[in-house]
Amino acid sequence: MLKTLRPLLLPLMFGLLTLPALAGELEQPMKKIGFNYKQALKADDAATMEKHIKEMKAQLDIAKEKKMPEAKKAKFLEGMNEVQGELDASLAALQAGDQEKARAHLAKVNDLKKEYHTYAKQKG
Ligand code: HEM
Repeated sequence: MLKTLRPLLLPLMFGLLTLPALAGELEQPMKKIGFNYKQALKADDAATMEKHIKEMKAQLDIAKEKKMPEAKKAKFLEGMNEVQGELDASLAALQAGDQEKARAHLAKVNDLKKEYHTYAKQKG
């Protein structure tokens, strides 16, 4: 009896383990984006800002890979790409030695966050 059930047990256990992960898939990358955003704003030297902006970009790439209902996906990717564009502009400004401009692009990221979170909630 146990022998016949054994091949079924492993996929079942695996399924149970992955279920909660699918439910809140965006939570971890979003939280890390938020953490690094605050650290980037707090930093007073360009190298620290750059480090946190790059970590945000890495987390955006992870978020983009997550499963998402088809109806939401296009808008979600659009928002993610806009944020990445602002982060790239911020990095370019830092490399040009213009910290003020880098911060202006980071401020736009916050606007995009508000815009797209509102959208995500409204359209269910
Ligand atoms: C600096 C930018 C952003 C920060 C700091 C941020 C942060 C967060 C946080 C903390 C959560 C809650 C996670 C949880 O506990 O479940 C979340 C959820 C979410 N975020 Fe973001 N986010 C940002 C940008 C964006 C953008 C640009 C989009 C869309 C293009 C987006 C789409 C979502 C979605 C779909 C959720 C799932 C929950 C919901 O439907 O509201 N986020 N975000």
